[in-house]
Amino acid sequence: MKRIIVFITRYVYAVLSCIYLFTIGFLFEKNRFLISTICEHFGYVEKTPKAILPTIELSEVAPEHIPIQVREPVEVDGNISLAEIAVISKLVKLHNPTTLFEIGTFDGRTTLNLAANSSQDAKVYTLDLPQEGLSETRLSLEPGEEKYIEKKKSGSRYLNTDCEKKITQLYGDSATFDFSPFFDAIDFIFIDGSHSYEYILNDSEQVLKLLRNRKGIILWHDYDKPWWGGLTSALNEMYLSRDEFKNIKQIKGTSLVCLIVE
Ligand SMILES: C[S@@+](CC[C@H](N)C(=O)[O-])C[C@H]1O[C@@H](n2cnc3c(N)ncnc32)[C@H](O)[C@@H]1O
Repeated sequence: MKRIIVFITRYVYAVLSCIYLFTIGFLFEKNRFLISTICEHFGYVEKTPKAILPTIELSEVAPEHIPIQVREPVEVDGNISLAEIAVISKLVKLHNPTTLFEIGTFDGRTTLNLAANSSQDAKVYTLDLPQEGLSETRLSLEPGEEKYIEKKKSGSRYLNTDCEKKITQLYGDSATFDFSPFFDAIDFIFIDGSHSYEYILNDSEQVLKLLRNRKGIILWHDYDKPWWGGLTSALNEMYLSRDEFKNIKQIKGTSLVCLIVE
């Protein structure tokens, strides 16, 4: 009898969870993998692009002993993971860039950590599409991105912190934004704006012109996530067809892809 009660309780809990998942829950990135898992369990084979990039151990890009500051550790839907914050912060500490550029500010959690781990005189530029820009992007966005764009304010997590003075908030659509003031001036770039195929190709092309003396670090986020297939396809294509991107690698255990040009 006890086993039957336990089963019924679980059954009801699962049914209620499914109702939530398929009505509201799927809007949150952290729940979407459940939909893929259910599909796979029942034999649905989806044609999502395969991860083909070479991988690299974190210890090869940023040794274990590098001390970092972690700010705003609590992650919300739309943020990168805490492990990825640590990886990016280690890379910043190790390479000590003086000028950093992020595409896709969102709530500014990564922006804040970029600023906190860079040198005192470093400058962090962060570009974001404000909600007014949602209806007029030059290229198509990926379904499901709207909720990251529709926020009251970009960068709320770095506002009123000791790092704010190092950060310059920029607004615009990365497909039409005038990047020319930053040409040949940036050492460290983080691409985390729109995740559509077209935007990843556009943003990657744009940032190449930003690198100071064609050297520096470019990072992309969300590679090999089943629900961001366009992003994975774009990075795969760039890796296979473009000399500039032939050395991109996925950092093991993360969805970060890095290009380190020394
Ligand atoms: C996933 S969130 C970025 C998360 C953030 N980098 C972090 O680590 O927490 C994506 C952000 O990219 C911005 N975005 C989307 N499309 C964009 C575009 N075309 N140009 C500039 N920013 C864009 C959105 O407004 C949103 O704030």
